Amino acid sequence: MGSVLFVCLGNICRSPMAEGIARARLVAAGRHDVAVESAGTAGYHEGEPADARTLDVLRRKGQLCELIARQVRDDDFERFDLILAMDRANLRDLRDRCPPAHQNKLRLMLEPTTGGDVPDPYYGGKDGFDQVYRLLDQAMDAWLDAL
Ligand code: 4NP
Repeated sequence: MGSVLFVCLGNICRSPMAEGIARARLVAAGRHDVAVESAGTAGYHEGEPADARTLDVLRRKGQLCELIARQVRDDDFERFDLILAMDRANLRDLRDRCPPAHQNKLRLMLEPTTGGDVPDPYYGGKDGFDQVYRLLDQAMDAWLDAL
């Protein structure tokens, strides 16, 4: 049982990648009891599909992503057990919005591994998206095991 929300800035690059990886892991493990979504702290890309470069990486790994980007909503802090920020700026924005009772749900995605940020790949090349995949892939099991 449990639910997890992955959060980045635009909800088109990093958090949809995290959502795709998490869904694939959960299906492979036969865990249909975990709810997974992603969202952005900003709403610039609301209503759009994930970035073509994120879709490309996921497709190469045999993973689908049907996400439509959306911004974080107030009720997300209630609905999810765990809210994972891709970088420290995302975490700060979430902390500013989150009611005190739910602050303990907010964590940094790479806390179980490097403790660093998942770098924003938006303005870079394709390599950046492969690196994002590796970082997310390495950290994911620790979170899913904790749910
Ligand atoms: P994301 O990447 O936060 O990983 O989805 C970005 C997407 C869009 C923008 C920045 C980062 N943007 O400035 O539009």
